[in-house]
Amino acid sequence: MHATAFFVLLGSGLVLYLPSLSVAIGRRPLLKDIHFWTGISWAGAILLISALGNRRALARTLREIDLFDRDDRRFLAGKTHSPQGRFNAGQKINAILTAAFATLFFISGLLLWYGEKNTSFRLPGTVYLHDTLMYLSLIIVSGHLYLALIHPSTRHALRGMTRGTVREDWAHTHHPKWATPPRSTEQRPSPPNPKALTPP
Ligand code: HEM
Ligand code: HEM
Repeated sequence: MHATAFFVLLGSGLVLYLPSLSVAIGRRPLLKDIHFWTGISWAGAILLISALGNRRALARTLREIDLFDRDDRRFLAGKTHSPQGRFNAGQKINAILTAAFATLFFISGLLLWYGEKNTSFRLPGTVYLHDTLMYLSLIIVSGHLYLALIHPSTRHALRGMTRGTVREDWAHTHHPKWATPPRSTEQRPSPPNPKALTPP
């Protein structure tokens, strides 16, 4: 839902933004409507999922994303081998920026739309903010797609999105603080407990 809405917004936004595309495609009022109503549906769908979805799981995800421990700080300092949880520090930053940008896109988009009807809502800098968000998102989403679809060591994560599971060995290498111990160690007999062997 998020990716589809984003790409429809990006495509229709670029047609509104680039004069050459605007002239080639024409039908500006229709594109404006598609753009605006996709934005409203996007925000509505996010609110619906937050209200009616698995709120406990969402709250747990929020807590995990919100917490940056020492390993996360090491990861951000370039030590990408420091052990990571379900989200690595880069993913946490990506999620935070995505949420912040979605909010700013929505507010500036509403102002652009309402500013046409009521000029007292036509604030200077709104178009600039909306356009800057588009440029920044393009850079971030390109990096995100490279990691999700092309980079050999991370692209296995796509299976987590499409099928809901990832390979255990992959989880161990990339998210050791989240993954359960590998089966080989789980099945290994545990060493005898010295206390249990001591006579009463
Ligand atoms: C979240 C909801 C969003 C809403 C409500 C929204 C709304 C709007 C509105 C009302 C306009 C003005 C159209 C016009 O008068 O020409 C606009 C322009 C634009 N939007 Fe959005 N938008 C949203 C998200 C996005 C996203 C996610 C992107 C790109 C990734 C984007 C890219 C653009 C671009 C490039 C323009 C043209 C700005 C210009 O002419 O300089 N928008 N948007
Ligand atoms: C078709 C396009 C896309 C694909 C194939 C894709 C793929 C993925 C994958 C595989 C993950 C899970 C990573 C993991 O669990 O290790 C993910 C997570 C995520 N995606 Fe996307 N994505 C797409 C579009 C987008 C767009 C457009 C945005 C934002 C504008 C976005 C934002 C996020 C965020 C915030 C996460 C969670 C944090 C993270 O893993 O970085 N994605 N995506």
